[in-house]
Amino acid sequence: MAYEAKPLPFRKQLIGISEKTMQIHHDKLYVGYVNKRNEIDEKLTKVDRTAANATYSEYGELKREESFAANAIYLHEYYFNVLGGENEEGTKPTGDLIQAIEKEFGSYEKWLEDFKAAGLCARGWVVLAYDFNTGKLHNYLCDSHNHGGIWGAMPVVVLDMYEHAFFIDYGSDRKAYIEDYMKNLNWEAANHLYGTIKK
Ligand SMILES: [Fe+2]
Repeated sequence: MAYEAKPLPFRKQLIGISEKTMQIHHDKLYVGYVNKRNEIDEKLTKVDRTAANATYSEYGELKREESFAANAIYLHEYYFNVLGGENEEGTKPTGDLIQAIEKEFGSYEKWLEDFKAAGLCARGWVVLAYDFNTGKLHNYLCDSHNHGGIWGAMPVVVLDMYEHAFFIDYGSDRKAYIEDYMKNLNWEAANHLYGTIKK
């Protein structure tokens, strides 16, 4: 069964992030990853496994790009999942997730400082994840879809720092994009996801 692209979970104009950016991001890039994943899956059904080789083989390249495409799909779905909220500047969100953040990072502000700093450094993704290995929330950074992900850590709040996510609207001003991302963060969706993970 082919993987099916999910529609955007919100229908509204985001703060600062243009419709053009979201259209390219979802309809072209994300859907493109889904199509490539399906193409890879199809090719894996008939590739020659006897030629597998650590330097180069068709099978090896398909498996490498399978992890790239699969993580691109999932991380984008997590990213879109937490957009579409509306947070007034300076207003602290509420809910179980915020309580857990406060417990594990000392305060919401401390978590936010770390999350934003990771965003300024990341070339790919920042992921607030619930790490099943430690039983704690942690901000992870990965520079590529398939490099830097932590096995056993479930994404909760995902920030896309690839330039395609912000360059049209913000140029190279990563800080302004991160500030607006926080204003668009749908804490209700993040809380819901966190609740599902904790169950
Ligand atoms: Fe992206």
